[in-house]
Amino acid sequence: MATIYIDNKPYDVAAGKNLLEACLTLGLDVPYFCYHPAMGSIGACRQCAVKVYRDENDTKGKLFMSCMEQVRDGMRVSVADMEAKEFRAHVIGWLMTNHPHDCAVCDEGGSCHLQDMTVMTGHNYRQYSFEKRTYRNQYLGPFLNHEMNRCIQCYRCVRYYKDYAGGKDLDVFAAHNHLYFGRHEDGVLESEFSGNLAEVCPTGVFTDKTLKQHYTRKWDLTTAPSVCHHCSLGCNTIAGERYGTLRNITNRYNGEVNGYFLCDRGRFGYEHVNSLSRIRKPLVRSQLPEATDKYLALKAAASAVSAGRVIGIGSPRASLESNYVLKTLVGEDNFHHGVSDMEHDLVDLALRILKEGATPTPSLREVEKADAVFILGEDLTNTAPMLALAVRQAVRQKPLLEQVSEANIPVWQDAAVRELVQTERGPLFSATFTETKLDDLATKTYFASPEAIARLGYAVAHNICLDCPPVEGLKKEEKKLAGQIADALLAAKNPLIISGTHSGNERVLKAAANIADALCAREKAAGILLTVPECNSMGLAMLGGHKLESALEAVLNGYADTVIILENDLYRRAGEATVDSFFKACKQVIVLDHLHNRTTETAGILLPAGPFAESDGTLINNEGRAQRFYQVYPTAEDIQESWRWLSELGTIAAHDEISHWHGYDDILRAIVIELPAFRGIEAVTPTSEFRIAGQKIPRASHRFSGRTSMLANINVSEPKPPEDPDSPLSYTMEGYRGQPPSSMIPFFWAPGWNSVQATNKYQQEVGGHLKGGDPGVRLISPAGTGEFSTAVPQNFLPLEDHLFMLPLYHTFGSEELSMYSLPIMELAPEPYVALNAADAMRLKLEDGQPLHFTIAGQTYDLPVKTSPNIPSGTAGLPIGLPSVPFAELPAWAILNRNLKWKKQPQTTF
Ligand code: SF4
Ligand code: SF4
Ligand code: FES
Repeated sequence: MATIYIDNKPYDVAAGKNLLEACLTLGLDVPYFCYHPAMGSIGACRQCAVKVYRDENDTKGKLFMSCMEQVRDGMRVSVADMEAKEFRAHVIGWLMTNHPHDCAVCDEGGSCHLQDMTVMTGHNYRQYSFEKRTYRNQYLGPFLNHEMNRCIQCYRCVRYYKDYAGGKDLDVFAAHNHLYFGRHEDGVLESEFSGNLAEVCPTGVFTDKTLKQHYTRKWDLTTAPSVCHHCSLGCNTIAGERYGTLRNITNRYNGEVNGYFLCDRGRFGYEHVNSLSRIRKPLVRSQLPEATDKYLALKAAASAVSAGRVIGIGSPRASLESNYVLKTLVGEDNFHHGVSDMEHDLVDLALRILKEGATPTPSLREVEKADAVFILGEDLTNTAPMLALAVRQAVRQKPLLEQVSEANIPVWQDAAVRELVQTERGPLFSATFTETKLDDLATKTYFASPEAIARLGYAVAHNICLDCPPVEGLKKEEKKLAGQIADALLAAKNPLIISGTHSGNERVLKAAANIADALCAREKAAGILLTVPECNSMGLAMLGGHKLESALEAVLNGYADTVIILENDLYRRAGEATVDSFFKACKQVIVLDHLHNRTTETAGILLPAGPFAESDGTLINNEGRAQRFYQVYPTAEDIQESWRWLSELGTIAAHDEISHWHGYDDILRAIVIELPAFRGIEAVTPTSEFRIAGQKIPRASHRFSGRTSMLANINVSEPKPPEDPDSPLSYTMEGYRGQPPSSMIPFFWAPGWNSVQATNKYQQEVGGHLKGGDPGVRLISPAGTGEFSTAVPQNFLPLEDHLFMLPLYHTFGSEELSMYSLPIMELAPEPYVALNAADAMRLKLEDGQPLHFTIAGQTYDLPVKTSPNIPSGTAGLPIGLPSVPFAELPAWAILNRNLKWKKQPQTTF
């Protein structure tokens, strides 16, 4: 710690920080633009000037940019000094000379850092009365608007996009007073993290184009803390509503998980909530009219449940609470996971590795600190995008730890650090079956079949610890690579192994676990991070349940005749013929979901479930972190959370346990009492009884407007606001005005800070943890009771007239719910099959020509896309695209007989 004097008052601050960071951490209002806690300082905008004095005898002092000045013990500073104030006012005056002052029509207005800073510095009136410089704006794709006239040349956008996120197609052009921030020509921004520009840019140059479709000022949104439902990482979000529709998703800072950023799927994939395909009324298809009211539907469902032999099929995209109530309703023996059998086994294995292995799993924040990384079988940008962004920061660790600390440069001195480090990177090894967006950062890439990736992994583990089994028959270069990876991991302080379920191969996971545990056996502070398929895959695995296959068998062999399906389209989980015959054999099908799909079409009774924005619930992310998401606005019509439907169904059916539950808190309490795996989950967030100074926490800001007029077309008297019995949040602006517990922050706001920069005020220190600790409770810790796996796989051998079809994932296209958003759909690829370029030549196929093949009886006829890296004898099929029928991959595809395919006898991969 260091003691510094700001305007003659002593403060204790962390030594080594920059002065701006220290001032902001102390809660002082120092204006700034170009500094960003995740990206450090470059001293570009000159907005953060303060006076620094040599010692207590110095009365004159000098102006310094506070973001560029390191805190020293005994330092004397003045923020209030008149010269510093005037300087800051002049700076903003210059920055505003070309700004169009179009706040009234700017989407950023009201949540704009530039507006806040003009007010903070006293630049209240327009001073420049000459012609302004203007630019032509660009088309940047479906996510972002571009309005360059508003730019204040702070450089944050290019520093974020290029330096932080590794994008290549956004830059700064021209010079002097004509800087242009954009692409070299109009076109879709290529980065999967482009949406963060809307929050990084301190003014309205880059704004959310999806919000523009149904624009609402930030202060008019009703917002609630939420958790992204589009992959297993559980990034924290804020979801905003107006007039009963979801308007936008913005980042919710969590110092351990997503920090300041989100991926574009998480930010823009929300339109399923507003979709025309929403199920809004309960249906009982045996009656006319089919649409009915809530009580008749529940009565019909309860009598079907009482009369039938019932099984339940849960879902990895439904909350823990909904899955738990379904499991309780149908009984443990009759509860099945609604995922493919392969996925069921792989997620189960991932959970066992995290629980029984010796290696802890890191948070995303900790991933950024890893100084050597080995990725096995995962294309992270497409399966867990924010993890790829964290790995991009991790490759900087080694040079930061070595060169930068040796040169005695503080890490926040971003320009100096990047100048010193240049393209130097720490060790990153990537073993995948086709090219990924992290390849350009990798020390070495290894493109091979899942079996070969697993073999390489086992060999690396053996190199680290001789207790791990050796691998026979490796090629010379593979042996060398295994040695190189092992050496790099052993030389690191915080080596990290990343793998997951997406390669569809359990040996890949086991090899990853062997390496991590071998590193622990050598007393390294290693970490293992495993991605799983969906937002609550880990929660479902922890809850326990049978395979989908046994659910199908239970109905087909007459053990059961009635099924309750929770938020799940079974046609995305098993082959069409199998699911068809399952539904045919069911006497009654009860489905709860929020969107129409092929499964809901088969439902005899259909209950409209609330999507995430209309529900409360808990998700368990890939690291075993339980996180609560809150309902943003009360549900219309008969829509309600699945757990509420199922509780009411249980109560009507006089289920012993369920009929005693009266709301969300009771269900969570029952989970804690019944299931030891979830002990501690009660600490995720306070119960619904929680109050601060006797008040609830408002979902709307005190600036919320039009409250009475919003409903004036219905009634000029304002109705009583709806109540929320399940949480301490109110739906209106009434309530406690101070900061709530970190798990319940509905928006970031502080006096004078209307933009997202208000986050500073909620953190223990700027860029660090939230006050009171970051949201979420970790439920899994490694017991160290597992043993090394000895199941080294055989080499992959191509088969004549076959291709081993591997699953390929796409950030935009593979995930079910985000594909209801038009901008996401626009960026999803057309269906294709990826083929090794040499194999395509042997098959006499060129790009775009159709390849006919069959997998498990399902025929496919898809255009070929050649890839130089996908191993010969394999091919890749995009997963999850609506027009590509389900296949449980990897699997052998039989080629159409007319194709002359001969395996290469000597090839093994
Ligand atoms: S576009 Fe925005 S972030 Fe980029 S330099 Fe201009 S004001 Fe700064
Ligand atoms: S990385 Fe995953 S959880 Fe995070 S925002 Fe993207 S889709 Fe959502
Ligand atoms: S924030 Fe210090 S110069 Fe820009």
